[in-house]
Amino acid sequence: MMRALVIYESLWGNSEMVARAIATRLSTGATVDVVDSDAAPVSVGGYDLIIVGGPTHAFSMSRAATRADAVKSHQAPHEPVRGIREWLNELERPSTKIPAATFDTRVDKPRLPGSAAKAAKHEIRSLGFETSIKQETFRVHGYEGPLLDGELERAAVWADEILASLGD
Ligand SMILES: Cc1cc2nc3c(=O)[nH]c(=O)nc-3n(C[C@H](O)[C@H](O)[C@H](O)COP(=O)(O)O)c2cc1C
Repeated sequence: MMRALVIYESLWGNSEMVARAIATRLSTGATVDVVDSDAAPVSVGGYDLIIVGGPTHAFSMSRAATRADAVKSHQAPHEPVRGIREWLNELERPSTKIPAATFDTRVDKPRLPGSAAKAAKHEIRSLGFETSIKQETFRVHGYEGPLLDGELERAAVWADEILASLGD
């Protein structure tokens, strides 16, 4: 059976909920591990699919400074030490072109430019992963969430599309 790894970064839990919805749907066609970026392996050679996602901070993937600001100025309940940016910096180049897809969460209003998913996709592609799956964005109310209605269902649909594209 196909093995999938879903890696998430999440300060308020919104990106984690999206990651878990994706993982639940992927598990209809794959064996799935879901891991926080703080605990994610840097060698992913045993997997057939990598999904990585987290919040957009300051128009891109978070940094230590934006995560600290989230806790200090916006009372975020969790401060990842190693976000997806830092995990991607440590991630080893795979020996085969493993398919990888990225997602992010972003505020619904105002709509801002910039996407952690796009930035993460750029990084993971340059490491030699196969990135033809289109990245996806899921929207939250305010900085802390919750997710907009229907976003977890949309996450499941995205997971179905990914499974279908790998089955081709
Ligand atoms: C410091 C900081 C900067 C942010 N910058 C952006 C941004 O540029 N664009 C955006 O759409 N959302 C921005 N947000 C909102 C986050 O995307 C939102 O908090 C996140 O989607 C919540 O997901 P989480 O619960 O998984 O952390 C920012 C939030 C913080 C704390």
